[in-house]
Amino acid sequence: MSRWRGIIEEYRKFLPVTAQTPVITLGEGNTPLIRAARLAKKIAPGVDLYLKYEGMNPTGSFKDRGMTMAISKAVEAGARAVICASTGNTSASAAAYGARAGIAVYVLIPAGKIALGKLSQAMMHQATVIQVEGNFDQALTIVKELSATYPVELVNSLNPFRIEGQKTAAMEICDDLGDAPTVHVLPVGNAGNITAYWSGYREYRAANQTTRLPRMMGFQAAGAAPIVLGHVVEAPQTVATAIRIGNPASWQSALTAVKESSGAIDMVTDEEILHAYALVAREEGVFCEPASATSVAGVIKLSQAGQLQEGTTVVCTLTGHGLKDADTAIGISRQPQTVKATRDDVARLLHV
Ligand code: F0G
Repeated sequence: MSRWRGIIEEYRKFLPVTAQTPVITLGEGNTPLIRAARLAKKIAPGVDLYLKYEGMNPTGSFKDRGMTMAISKAVEAGARAVICASTGNTSASAAAYGARAGIAVYVLIPAGKIALGKLSQAMMHQATVIQVEGNFDQALTIVKELSATYPVELVNSLNPFRIEGQKTAAMEICDDLGDAPTVHVLPVGNAGNITAYWSGYREYRAANQTTRLPRMMGFQAAGAAPIVLGHVVEAPQTVATAIRIGNPASWQSALTAVKESSGAIDMVTDEEILHAYALVAREEGVFCEPASATSVAGVIKLSQAGQLQEGTTVVCTLTGHGLKDADTAIGISRQPQTVKATRDDVARLLHV
């Protein structure tokens, strides 16, 4: 097997790069597409269910696909600094790829509202971490204004190169399955990823790599569901901090994706998200972060509503790794038992 060279080299002909573009890569992409038969049996019998485990990217989320593009293009354009607002993963990814490129990275995060693993990444890669006393939407407004006036490149998904990179996840799925799935389910926050996937599926079909297009089904958290409600949510709330967003930047293109694909955007409650989060870890051995499990909660909802026919191929994107947010995992799990360091004390706990 030849060595995986990261998404820019592997999907070069679908990306806006030239021989002059410096490729800033950490080997992102090539993430596992895991068949989840046990989970399917439980939540959607008869469905051929797959998990696209994007937590296996270099910084533990799908953002790396977009960031390799955004940082490479920023360096090509001569940028010395980049900036983003983030609920955590974008900041971790920007910090890592920025470090790799040797440029300055500024990240704005909502104070106290991002998972600790993500904060540790941004800090460790020496980004300038600015906590704003506000939410993601306010931080995004600020970075948009600053990048328009200062020599600092915006690397949020408003940057078109981010979407270009992220579309490669759809292409990998098609390469793995031999065709596009029937239904694609994913979490929606700022709505860049659903936009990117749809673009990837369409381009692959246009290039005759696939014969069909999936229905795009996006799920928001009920406390942060502006697209479902049809209006901006001023004070979004959810346990899934990664998608705690009340005014998504790619709102319109997400609507286009669901319209063109005969899909939909719906919502699930925090309770449903945490249930799915625990289930996928227990049934399949796959540890994702809470926001990622929104897609699995979405599959449960679709299945219960009779919307997934038998034989349907469904792919769920698990956007980020569970280790990003160990606090939530520990909080909902059975606690470890502490015993004396003797054979008998431990043996008493074995129920075999
Ligand atoms: N899942 C995770 C783990 C995320 O971090 C995000 C977005 C999403 C889903 C939603 O993707 O925004 O493209 O609809 N995180 C951004 C961030 C906002 O700053 O890390 P989306």
